Parts: sequence; C-alpha cells; structure tokens
Amino acid sequence: MRLILLGAPGAGKGTQGALLAKKHGLTKIATGDILRDAVRRDTPLGQQAKTYMNAGELVPDELILAMVRDVLSDQTEGFVLDGFPRTLEQAEGLRAILTEMEIDLDAVVVLHVPDDVLVKRISGRRSCPQCKHVYNVYFEPPAEEGQCDKCGAELVRRADDDPATVENRLQVYARQTQPLIEFYEASGTEVLYVDGTGDVDEVQDEIEEQLRSV
Ligand code: AP5
Repeated sequence: MRLILLGAPGAGKGTQGALLAKKHGLTKIATGDILRDAVRRDTPLGQQAKTYMNAGELVPDELILAMVRDVLSDQTEGFVLDGFPRTLEQAEGLRAILTEMEIDLDAVVVLHVPDDVLVKRISGRRSCPQCKHVYNVYFEPPAEEGQCDKCGAELVRRADDDPATVENRLQVYARQTQPLIEFYEASGTEVLYVDGTGDVDEVQDEIEEQLRSV
C-alpha cells in the first residue's frame, strides 16, 4: 500500500503514520523527521533547512525533492508519506518520481482537525530525543513528568512548537498545502477524508475503515 497523509501541523500525521506503518508493514517516510535529524547532525542539508524550519516556513522544494527521491529510490515495498508533498511543485515532483518507478499511489488520507485543537495538541507535545517516542502532556502524558517511559531520557519540546511559529505554520499549511487536496481529487487519486478530532484509537479505526474501500 502506498499512502500520503495530509493534514495541518498537529493533525496527527506522525502518530497515525507510525500506526499505519506498524499495522501494514509500511515504511514511514516523514520529511520533518529526516530534516530534524539533519539539523541535529549539522549536515549541509540541516544547515540549509534550519532557518526555514525555525520560522515555520517550508524548506525549498528542490532540497526536499532531492531528499525524497533519494529515500524513495530504496522503496520496493509499501510506504506512507508524512509531511510530503506540501506544495504543488512537490506533488508534481512526486508524480514524476513515481512514474519513473512505475508505481502508483493508493490513496491520500486527509486528517481534518479544527485549529483550536491543533494548537492545544502542539502546545502539549513533548518528544524523546533518544527513542523518538512522542507524548502529549494533555492527551498522552508520560508516567513521570518530563521523562520518557520507554528509555528514561528527558523529554524535549520541538524548536518550532512555540505559539508564534505555530500560527505561521498553520497559515503556511492553508496557503501552500491545502490546495493539494484539490490537486489529488482532480488527478483521480482516491482521497479519503478522516475526522481527526477523536482520540488516537478512534482516528486509527476510521482510517482503517476507509482504507477497506480502496
Ligand atoms: P513536520 O515535522 O512535518 O511537522 P508538521 O506538518 O507541522 O506536523 P507536526 O509534526 O507538528 O504534526 P503531526 O500532524 O505529525 O501530529 P503528531 O502526530 O505529531 O514539519 C516540520 C517542519 O519541517 C515544517 O514546518 C517545514 O519547515 C519542514 N518540512 C517538513 N516537510 C517539508 C516539506 N515536505 N517541504 C518543505 N518543508 C518541510 O501529533 C501532534 C501532537 O498531538 C502529539 O503530541 C501527539 O501525541 C498528539 N496527538 C496526535 N493525535 C492525537 C489525537 N487523536 N488525540 C489527542 N492527541 C493527539
């Protein structure tokens, strides 16, 4: 199965992407995770991406497309794309890559969550820098405040999760990424609309239910 997860910051793409990958044996390709790792390792890509990410802006398409082309070239099995594509140019680029690989997308899953819920989820997000598990102080708190249940590391807040940057990320999503829904509708790809406001299990069940029709 080859899927795209589309949704605003905090909609649950990372959370549901991990569950989909586990359940269906897919590779989760999350451009945000790859970029954060590059920033942490201070690679040339990370150095170029950091300023854009910290401002809540998108990293330039040519950098993203080169990065994704590289990752996808190893993909013979199924995958779930989380956070990519994010612009029409990236969607066109993905189409070209998949055509070269002679493979098709099965569906685009759109997670819809109202802005006030997105802001609360993002403000409560804490991540483990070591094992990468993601918590939420409101919805999925760790047993010990500030400490990862799985590996004991101290939990951190993402650099782009401060309120001013989140507001910009939401605007960038509405302006540059939301139009992709129409792009995929027009291209004949199956677009599945999922209400992302329920708890994690409810959203997962709804995604699975809708995927049964694909
Ligand atoms: P990226 O890492 O992709 O961030 P994002 O799209 O802003 O999305 P988030 O990671 O904030 O949210 P999510 O939808 O994954 O939600 P999550 O599951 O974590 O991108 C970051 C930056 O990198 C971009 O701003 C840009 O600069 C750059 N970038 C990345 N890709 C790019 C691209 N293709 N082109 C250009 N630039 C790119 O959940 C959020 C929180 O809510 C968590 O705490 C979670 O535990 C909780 N939660 C999840 N689901 C639920 C639920 N159902 N109920 C209650 N809580 C929930």
